[in-house]
Formats: sequence, structure tokens, C-alpha cells
Amino acid sequence: MKLKFTILLIACFALMQQNKAQVRVQNLRCEMLINPLGIDIAEPRFSWQLESNQRNVFQTSYQIWVSSSEQKLKANDGDIWNSGQIASDRSLLINYNGKKLGSGKKYFWKVKAFTNKGEVSSTESAFFSMGLLNKTDLPAGQAGWKAKWIGYDKASPWDSITQWSRLSARYLRKEFQSIAAVKRATVYISGLGLYELYINGQKIGDQVLAPNPTDYRKSYFYNTYDVTAQIKNGNNALATVLGNGRFFTMRQNYKTQKHNTFGYPKLLLQLEIEYADGSKKLIVSDESWKLNVDGPIRTNNEYDGEEYDATKEFPGWNNIGFNDSKWIRPELVAAPPGNITAQMSEPMKVMRIIKPVSIRVLNNGKYVLDMGQNFAGWLRVLVKGKRGQQIKLRYAESLQANGELFTANLRDAKVTDIYTLRGHGHENSLLPGNMESWMPSFVSHGFRYVEIVDFPGIPTVNNFEGHLIYDALETTGSFQTSNEVINSIYKNAWWGIASNYKGMPIDCPQRNERQPWLGDRTIGAQGESFVFDNAKLYAKWMQDIEESQTDEGALPDVAPAFWNYYSDDVTWPAAYITISNNLYNQFGDTRPIQKHYESMKKWMGYMRDKYMKDYIIIKDKYGDWCVPPESLHLIHAKDSSRLTDGKLIATAYYYKLLSYMQRFAKLTGNDPDVKEFSQLSENIRTAFQKTFYNQQQKYYSNGTVTANLLPLYFDICPDSLKEAVVKKIYEKIHVESNDHISTGLIGTQYLMRGLTEYGQADLAFTLASNKTYPSWGYMAANGATTIWELWNGNTADPNMNSQNHVMLLGDLLTWFYENLAGIRTDKTAIGFKKIIMKPTLPDGLEFVNASYKSVYGLIKSSWKKGNAKFEWNISIPANTSAVIYMPAVAAEVVTETGRAIGKAGGVKLMKFENGIAVIEIASGQYQFSSQIK
Ligand code: BGC
Repeated sequence: MKLKFTILLIACFALMQQNKAQVRVQNLRCEMLINPLGIDIAEPRFSWQLESNQRNVFQTSYQIWVSSSEQKLKANDGDIWNSGQIASDRSLLINYNGKKLGSGKKYFWKVKAFTNKGEVSSTESAFFSMGLLNKTDLPAGQAGWKAKWIGYDKASPWDSITQWSRLSARYLRKEFQSIAAVKRATVYISGLGLYELYINGQKIGDQVLAPNPTDYRKSYFYNTYDVTAQIKNGNNALATVLGNGRFFTMRQNYKTQKHNTFGYPKLLLQLEIEYADGSKKLIVSDESWKLNVDGPIRTNNEYDGEEYDATKEFPGWNNIGFNDSKWIRPELVAAPPGNITAQMSEPMKVMRIIKPVSIRVLNNGKYVLDMGQNFAGWLRVLVKGKRGQQIKLRYAESLQANGELFTANLRDAKVTDIYTLRGHGHENSLLPGNMESWMPSFVSHGFRYVEIVDFPGIPTVNNFEGHLIYDALETTGSFQTSNEVINSIYKNAWWGIASNYKGMPIDCPQRNERQPWLGDRTIGAQGESFVFDNAKLYAKWMQDIEESQTDEGALPDVAPAFWNYYSDDVTWPAAYITISNNLYNQFGDTRPIQKHYESMKKWMGYMRDKYMKDYIIIKDKYGDWCVPPESLHLIHAKDSSRLTDGKLIATAYYYKLLSYMQRFAKLTGNDPDVKEFSQLSENIRTAFQKTFYNQQQKYYSNGTVTANLLPLYFDICPDSLKEAVVKKIYEKIHVESNDHISTGLIGTQYLMRGLTEYGQADLAFTLASNKTYPSWGYMAANGATTIWELWNGNTADPNMNSQNHVMLLGDLLTWFYENLAGIRTDKTAIGFKKIIMKPTLPDGLEFVNASYKSVYGLIKSSWKKGNAKFEWNISIPANTSAVIYMPAVAAEVVTETGRAIGKAGGVKLMKFENGIAVIEIASGQYQFSSQIK
């Protein structure tokens, strides 16, 4: 009896615990980052997620505590901020509103959420630390910094500042004493272009190619590291290596009107040690450091490669006790002209290790390694041989028919790394025997194949390892369908996007370009934001764009403006507005809009005043960039029937941008601007219609898909004319192009959604699943493991023909998620607070399994259809709700976990219309099923 009672008690307790644990607060973020160090925002924003296995969970209020110590936080002593209980369902980007946050200080925070299912607190406390903020008693323009800029502002005899810029890396070191128990030690560092940091021989952090690139004339980043564990009692050594990056850029004294370079590498470093007794010590970069530029990294050039001579190493140089008496003093050098700011986006890291699939020897004795995948990063080599022996590694995306590398599409980039062997293992190496391991520090390459010359002995695949490098962003999406072509395109897109994130979104990672072209991402960025958590990367890019604006208001085609391209095009700079809009929709981040509103408005005004004649924009440079040309060997079509009038494109875009600007004006409290923008819109619409619409033919301009899709999708076209315009688009694709794509970068940005919205989802599906030219599937069928720059990437002139470019994805990924999976945010309640789930079911597609980690949590949509049955499993995160569009022959046939919808919890039928049951659901997991025709 007693035993039974005890068991019952335990069972009851377990049940209570279980009930309690059914809502959790997790994924705490400050400024959208997990426990960030060194932020420089006076009012950081806090976010969290609620997670639950129950249905219908929502937050009713919250309370945030920010404390100066972990102990205080535990005791609920929010000495820095205690928000009190705030009645609100918001859990995203809540503004800090406490005491002034101090420069360099570390803070701890937690949150309690009050929900309709009870109260829950975050289980772990989170933290953040402030960067160097205070601007008093400091050298001009430098915030909180006591450090001095040091470097070596000249070339050495082995360097070259000609077109083929070569510069050896700068090695800098400093020893210091630390004699008490360390409470906290923090390094603030800006090493331009790139740096590696060591303390007592140990590399600090797992970031690579840091800091992220900026237009150094306007701003540059510092990074913050917690090095408490690395500081020893007694002697310590601080050491850094500086590489060129984009600062001492890849081409020097060559086409100076095009390439910008910023100077010789330089370092600003501040180490702050706080001791247990409250005292402090500061170690800063200054003239007391030691420098050597005659070390192992002989040259590092992002286009041409890195050369490392291990015979020139300084064994032990980054640790204590090294004799640096022969090293020289660094120069005190000028600070870069821009503002120093904290890097608030993720650093680049080695995100994946890639094992080569094969290695072949050619008749000439060279080896060719196949990584099995085109990607961007570097190659790690394991080698054993004689001291002074050199191996050469040259990279390419594909091979020629004779098995040699195909390098014509790399233009003048030499992409060659050279490693000179040490002759024995490294002193700290764990590798067996005399094995040496090497990989570059300051370059990356875009490649699938590597040519290996002069390798001692016979190399095998085990001697190599590929490192995929991109910004350390979480992969937030997964997407799989019954169609293998679509699956392979999705996979290729993932690799393409990852390869082209380099602290900014670049066009391609392999040839002598690698520039952040704005037009390539205008709409693509939206699809990418389902696949990767790219909120901070793109918010950073918006800042790059603003910084590249001229005083007159012009925006560049490339930002940061490493290349001087200001062509006053509408379609490339449009990215500034479309992507800020997407950051708001997708991640709920209003800051880019608030921060850049004035500068966007300035650009809109500049374009209007300079290029608008009778409400038509008369300037366009790129047209519908890269449409499928009439000959497979061409880069650009010359046949005018394939090209779309640039004035039409520019004017349609400008019109569309005005609608975003109206939204932004309302959001930022600039209501008077709304009227101005809307009046201008009306005038443009009238003029557009008059100029480009052909009344006889009932279509726009010369009838291309792009010429008709833009006015249709942007709602310039009056409703009464839409049917004929859709018919024209359909005919163009179906009859003239034999169910194939005919658009370039511009048209493809709206193609899939446009067709679907106007009743042509089956045609969209055909384009997405084609394997023949031109199509994304054609690329995959012809060996692509990423996305090509050109539809005819396997046959076109190599002059502009990258095999790893993402611009032609257009709106394909958005279509995958929003239309095929049917996951989209309701734009009146941004950031997926309200979700609209409306899948499109094209003929021939049997299932879709997709998920997306939104800012509120995981959304899942998995549907399958067959035998007149439709089954749909859905997950909606806590603190959100959704409206789902369930295909069915009648509302009565819809069930949820076997029950009629009226009887299922958290489910409410709103209406049944045109074969769709529109159902409102609360958070939770659901299994719907219905009969369809
Ligand atoms: C780049 C493109 C870019 C274009 C515009 C090309 O060289 O690779 O992606 O948008 O130029 O001119």
C-alpha cells in the first residue's frame, strides 16, 4: 500500500514537472547575436524564443534583468536594468532601457516570460560586453582607445607594388608581465587588412580572415576577445600577424580609376586586464613592440595566392622567451581615415571540412586533385619532405578535356599557393614523423580542382583537406521535394551562397573580381534569408552601401566601393531598399530602415532630379543582365528581341522602390513624405503606361517576359489589361522558348512568384525542374555543383563566366519556401509572428518537406499528395499563429489528427473558398489531412 502510494506520488510529481517543462525560454540573443562581446550600441536589443510541445502557447508579458555580475543576476538583482513586468507579446528585439552601459563592461541578463500556460524563466543566463565606447581623453576620433597604430609603411626589396601586388606579412610581438590573479582580460583588436592574434603561442579565437571588410576610408572594424584563460602569472607574449586583405589590395598602381587601395597593413590593439583586487593593467600597441617583415608569409594576395616559406619561420616567436633583439621597432603610423566601430556581424570561420574524392596524375607529372565540390576556402596540405623543397598548388573550378585545369575564366588571378617545406614537423605538432601541415592564413580560393606540382613523393587524397570558409551563419532552412532536379538545384544554391559570403556578399570567389555587386542580391537576398541566418551580414552590408554614397547622393554598383563603379543605374543600388525591406519582413529588424531612410531618400531624389524625364527614368546600364543569348558562345545577347528596354526596367524599378519608400516613411514617422512618394508613383505609372504599353498588341514594349512581368508584378499594369499581359508572358515562355527561361538577372527576380501568382504555377514548376538549356537543372546536369553566372556557363566566352555565382537564382529560393513549402510571414506582423502557409501544388510534385528556423522558432511544412488525398504536417512556434490554406474538396473532409476541424484544439475554420479551407491555427504541431480532386 505504502509502496503504491509512493509510486503514485512520484508519478504525480513527474507529471507536474513535465507540465512545467512544457514551455521553455531559449535562444537568448542580444543584437541578434549569441553572447556577443564588444558591442558598441548604447541601447542593445534583446530577443528570445518560447518553445513548447503544447498547442496554443503565447506570451502575455515579460520581465528582463540586466546585472553587473552573475551572482546579482541569480539573486534577481537587476542593478543595471530591471524592466519590471511588461504586458506584451513581444519577444523580439526589445530595446534596452536601463542605466547607461559602460565602455568595456560585461553584463549578464535573463528573461522571464509570462505565458497563458504559466511563468517561465530562461534557464541559462546570457551575457554581452560593451566595446570601447567612451570618447573622452583619447586620441582624436578614437573611442576608448589608448592604443597607437603601428605598422611598417613601406615595401621591402622582395615586395612589389605593381599590378601584381606582393607584400610580405607583418609579424608583431610584445612581452609583458602580469603578476596577480586575473579576473577578466579582454583584447580589442583591429588589424588591417587581416590579422591573426596569439597569446603565449596559442591562437585566439576560431575566426579566420578577420576583421570583416569595409570601405576603410569610411569605417573599419575591431573585434573583441575574452582572453582571461590565456593570461598567465608572470611573463606573457602577445603576437599578431598582419595580412593585406582588401586594405593593401590585390592590384596596386594599376587601373587606379577602378581599384581602391588604402595603405600598408597596420595594427591597433588594446589588452585590458582586470585583477581580482580591482586593479587594472593596459597593454597597447605602440612603439615598444617589435616587428619583422621578413618572415614565412612572403606574399598574400586574395587573387594571386599565398606563398609561405617555412624555412623563414621564427620558431617560438609568438610565445614568451623569444629573442627578438634582431627585430626592429614598428613605425607609428596614421590611423585609417574612417571611424572605428565594433564588428556586429559574425566573423568568417572554417564551416566545413571537405575530403577530396580523387587524385590523378597527368602525363606531365602534375597531379590533379578533385574535391568533388566547387566551394570557396582553402586547402590544407599534409606533406613530408626535404627542407627548402617547394610545392605549388593552383586552383580551378573545372578541367579542360585533356585533364588540365581550366583557368581561362579566372582572368588574371594567379590563384597559386606555394609552400616551402621546413623539413620537419612543427614544434607543437601532433602529427606523426616529420609530417608538416600547412594552409594559408590570408587568402581564399574558389575551386573544385587543385593542380599539385613538385609534391615530394606520391600524394594521395589523404594528404589534403578542403576548408569551406564563410561567415559563421547558422543554416536555418531545409528543403526537400519529390523532384530530384529541384533538390539538386537547392543543394547547389546552398554551396553557391555559402561560398560567396565573405563578410559581405560577393559575386564570385574565384576570378580577379570577388566584388560585392549590389544587383546580384536585390531579390536573391530574400531567398537566402530562408537558408541562412544572414540578418547581421546584410544589416552590415546596408551600412557599407550608405558609406559608399557620394555627397551628391549617388550609390555605387559595388559596396564597399573597392571598385569605383558609380553608373547611376537604378537596378543595382535598388538592393539598398529591397534588402532593408526584407530584413524588416524576415527578421523584424527595423533598424536598417531607420538608420538609412534619409540616405535612401537622398538617392531616390538624386536619381529623380538627374535622370527622370517626363516621369521616365532614362538611365540604365545593365539591362536584364545575362539573358540566354542567341549563340551558346556569347556572354551577352545582341539580338534585340531578347533584350528589354533599359528605360522600362529602370522606371518600373523606381516605381516599385517608391512603394517601399512609402512603407519606410510611415515606419520612421516621416508621414509627409508618403504623399510626395505616392504622387510621384501615380505620375510614373501614367507615363509608363503611355510610353511602354502597346495598345494594339496588348503587351509592353517588345514583348519580352521581363518587359511584361515587371509592370504586371509591380502593379503598374491596370487590372483590366492583366489577363492579356499574362497571356503574352505565357506564350513567350511556352511557345517561343519551348517552356524554357528567357530572362536574365532582372526578370528572374520576379519570374517564379509572378507566374505562380497569375495562375501559371505549373509553368513555373516546369522551369524549375527543367534539365535542358537554359535552366538551373541544365547546370546541375552538366556537372555544376554550384550555380553558374551564365545560363550557358559551359560554352560561353570565359571572359565573364564564373561557375559559382548566385545572381541567376532570382526569386527561386523564395518560391521554394514561400510557394512550394508555403511558409511566409504575414507582412502586417513581420518576422513570422503571424505566418501564412499557402502551398502551391504543381502537377508532378508529390511532396515537399521543409523547415525554417524563424526568429520565433522552428516552422515546419511537410505535405504530400496522392490518390486524391492531401496530408500536411505543420509546426508553428510558440508565441506565433498561422493562417493555413488547406486544399480540400469541401471543408467537411478536412481532419486534424483524425478529428474534424471543428473538434480539434487550436484550430478554427475561417472560410472555405475555391477548393481551399482557410484555417486559423495557434502555435503547436498539427497533422492535417483532406480529400482533393
Ligand atoms: C559581376 C556581376 C555584376 C556585373 C555587373 C560582373 O562582372 O560578376 O555579378 O553584377 O558584373 O556589371
